[in-house]
Amino acid sequence: MKQTQVVARRRTTEDDITAEVLRRLDSAQDARLRRIMLSLIQHLHHFIKDVELTEAEWLQGIQFLTDTGKMSSDTRQEFILLSDTLGVSMVVDLINHRMPEGATESTVFGPCHHDGAPELATGSNLAPTDTAGMPTVVSGRVLDLQGRPIAGALLDTRQYDSTGRHDQPYEDKSRIRMRGMYHTGKDGRFVIRTSRPVAYEIPNDGPVGKLLRATDRHAWRPAHIHFVVSAEGFAPVTTHIFDSVDKYLESDAVFAVKESLICTFTEHHTRDEAAKQFNIEPPFCTAEFDFVLKPARR
Ligand code: BEZ
Repeated sequence: MKQTQVVARRRTTEDDITAEVLRRLDSAQDARLRRIMLSLIQHLHHFIKDVELTEAEWLQGIQFLTDTGKMSSDTRQEFILLSDTLGVSMVVDLINHRMPEGATESTVFGPCHHDGAPELATGSNLAPTDTAGMPTVVSGRVLDLQGRPIAGALLDTRQYDSTGRHDQPYEDKSRIRMRGMYHTGKDGRFVIRTSRPVAYEIPNDGPVGKLLRATDRHAWRPAHIHFVVSAEGFAPVTTHIFDSVDKYLESDAVFAVKESLICTFTEHHTRDEAAKQFNIEPPFCTAEFDFVLKPARR
């Protein structure tokens, strides 16, 4: 009599695949990498199961990441832009820069920084080419946590001009615009002459811009000035100061606004004390902000 052969079939479920991928990390020697990959795979698989991703959507995601890579270059970091607009950069910032009470808070670095800003004397103009902007003086002190002035602190400063541009969008990219390095004096004071910052749109001519539009989001950042403030023996802080009257403070495209970084820009329309102090003709603006550094970790 002919016997029916019973073939044992293994049913593979979605959860079996997740478990098997996780199991293959058992032998990873680098404990930190193992922890990161375990968590990443769990969350990634959970996300795909949660939304029941279709094959077409999966391919669209792959194409999006491919386009993001192709858009990236030495001067355009589309992946950082993606991280910024998804709020990932700010979550990383908050986890890594838990500040003691009183220290200046950090915020995103952004993809537009490059080295080579010139050293500028105190009071000199960061924005000599920005003739259309409202002349502005930003001044203040760099202090330690006890309120003592830090002499010789460095303020690596940059902002966009009154047309919402820095060097890169200009034809002559080699010309440094809107960037400068200032030092504090013996009393910890700094004075920066510039033009009033304006709100501007983050680069949105690539895949990240497409994603913002597809999800009905705008690309605007509130008016701000970028600083990296550093001094010997102190932890450097990457931060901004924001203009308190900007309409995008509540909806910054990259989620970078912190209450403690909002600063009043005061308009002056007469030849008042500030005009005399800074030798500047009205109309102009002044903004006063003290940066407080925490000690470097030993
Ligand atoms: C910026 O302020 O330069 C910036 C920050 C994040 C994304 C894009 C631009």
